[in-house]
Amino acid sequence: MCGIFAYLNYLTPKSRQEVLDLLVTGLKRLEYRGYDSTGVAIDSPDNKNIVMVKRTGKVKVLEEAIQEHFSGGEYSKPVLTHVGIAHTRWATHGVPCERNSHPHRSDDGNGFVVVHNGIITNYNDVKTFLAKRGYEFESDTDTEVFAKLVHHLWKTHPTYSFRELVEQAILQVEGAFAIAVKSKYFPGECVASRRSSPLLVGIKTKTRLATDHIPILYGKDEKKLSPDQVLPRSESTSEFMPLEEKEVEYFFASDASAVIEHTNRVIYLEDDDVAAVRDGTLSIHRLKKSLDDPHAREITTLKMEIQQIMKGNYDYFMQKEIFEQPDSVVNTMRGRVRFDGNAIVLGGIKDYIPEIKRCRRLMLIGCGTSYHSAVATRQLLEELTELPVMVELASDFLDRNTPIFRDDVCFFISQSGETADTLMALRYCKQRGALIVGITNTVGSSICRESHCGVHINAGPEIGVASTKAYTSQFISLVMFALVMSEDRLSLQQRRLEILQALSNLADQIRAVLQLDSKVQELAKDLYQHKSLLIMGRGYNFATCLEGALKVKELTYMHSEGIMAGELKHGPLALVDDSMPVLMIVLRDPVYVKCMNALQQVTSRKGCPIIICEEGDEETKAFSSRHLEIPRTVDCLQGILTVIPMQLLSYHIAVLRGCDVDCPRNLAKSVTVE
Ligand code: F6R
Repeated sequence: MCGIFAYLNYLTPKSRQEVLDLLVTGLKRLEYRGYDSTGVAIDSPDNKNIVMVKRTGKVKVLEEAIQEHFSGGEYSKPVLTHVGIAHTRWATHGVPCERNSHPHRSDDGNGFVVVHNGIITNYNDVKTFLAKRGYEFESDTDTEVFAKLVHHLWKTHPTYSFRELVEQAILQVEGAFAIAVKSKYFPGECVASRRSSPLLVGIKTKTRLATDHIPILYGKDEKKLSPDQVLPRSESTSEFMPLEEKEVEYFFASDASAVIEHTNRVIYLEDDDVAAVRDGTLSIHRLKKSLDDPHAREITTLKMEIQQIMKGNYDYFMQKEIFEQPDSVVNTMRGRVRFDGNAIVLGGIKDYIPEIKRCRRLMLIGCGTSYHSAVATRQLLEELTELPVMVELASDFLDRNTPIFRDDVCFFISQSGETADTLMALRYCKQRGALIVGITNTVGSSICRESHCGVHINAGPEIGVASTKAYTSQFISLVMFALVMSEDRLSLQQRRLEILQALSNLADQIRAVLQLDSKVQELAKDLYQHKSLLIMGRGYNFATCLEGALKVKELTYMHSEGIMAGELKHGPLALVDDSMPVLMIVLRDPVYVKCMNALQQVTSRKGCPIIICEEGDEETKAFSSRHLEIPRTVDCLQGILTVIPMQLLSYHIAVLRGCDVDCPRNLAKSVTVE
């Protein structure tokens, strides 16, 4: 959902060409966040102006334009200090085109240029205010108002520092943003800030940093004023010099994947932090101090490895991530499940277990695939916790103003940890006093930081826009939670043992399912020219139907529906005829007989179902036109093995249809707007 990246070198010679290369590489790492258009801004070779390059489409197009027009000559001469900002866009306001691409500028002279991720909800008011003061707008975006607002403040408050100007501008805007601003009036400086959209600062020094913290400078408690008023200057205007290094490079990025090849030392900014670099010094400023605000922001060390964000020998990230699942599920369980002693410890949640056991109900909230992991595990959670379990789509949950009580325990499931709907639902529940549990894959993400406790699913970075390995790891995290909750229930011990045993075999069984790849590819060849695909199942496998249909839709642009087999006769059966492809999941579990009934209903309407069944189940296979056999496991974990053929199928259909697997049209990973 838009990626922003900025780079600043201080006393570290780099040519403009090198800076441009850095910006382009940063954008490539963030491309999964949006790929409608891209752009960069750097200083012109005479240092008097700012040069911008923007292109519609993916970063590759921008890279080619840069190579053609901005390499060699003056661009190859090293400069000691430079600031570049860059952006990859997922369009919200204004169609994807060069005019609407970021960076956006304040005026013809490119006085201030800005890159932004998020939505400025009051942009119309700000626009009207600025239009009355003579500003003309050249794009349809909400972002442009920010550049022009900073410019207006600069004209009306000429003594203000760059940081103060941006600080005053963010007081005027509402909504969500992560921004990085560059100005020709403040060369060598960069100011960045965030509210509800992610942003981190990477720091690279030659020697190990002398500090693990950057102190926060707090200003006076200032009221929001109209930009025309004379604003009181914040009290603490002196800049702190936390880094003794002389040569330093800074990176501002929407996420860690864009900085990991340069540095593993980062600061995750909090809402309304304003981070400014001047004379090579980073300062973090907040206008207002509340009682429990900390004195400093921690510099954390990223654990991510560069190989984790590379495609390796695979054609697509999604393909790599599907095939990583035997390892990613083990990583989710690593250090948590002791198969010999049948013990499970979830470090991030263990202190809260007594409180959770006393709760009124469990609520599992998420969007898209993350929501499906809640659907997939609900039945087991009900069984092992003996508590009411509600599963909710975050957007719908908010629309309904759902009643929440202090003794509710609310789980927020999110791969990115930044999904706006989920984050807002979290804040809604937190305000009402519920216990907040985060289930995320992204350390340092907003959901992770705003939760009381939680589980990191440890699936490793997921770059393909369609979620795959995060789903299976979310699934396992929730299963582990159910096992922890039932530890002291004598009557459930046999069931727990059965599940633990199945968990210990899971990685090998996933490997076996992945061997079906070529068979699934053949199946995809039969299906890819169809208009629609129905996927049916029930019980523990209903979530696979929803998730499979979502994968097919988003990757192949083909219509697909996940159907609860029990609902077939209440409507969807009308869709079935001899030309409609129907895929059914029929496993030997408590709903087997009911699934067979649905299967008969389909075949008696001339449907020719493709079946996912258990290895060696000849009786069931006899009813299918084609079949995929998966290994037998305990009922509540079947969903992990049945979803993998669906992931592979959507992948192969997408390739056959010529779709861009990692960047499906109109979508982006990490949906940071409502
Ligand atoms: C589908 C997909 C999306 C996400 C959804 C929530 O393949 O990836 O449906 O699952 O946007 O994202 P997170 O999990 O980051 O909150």
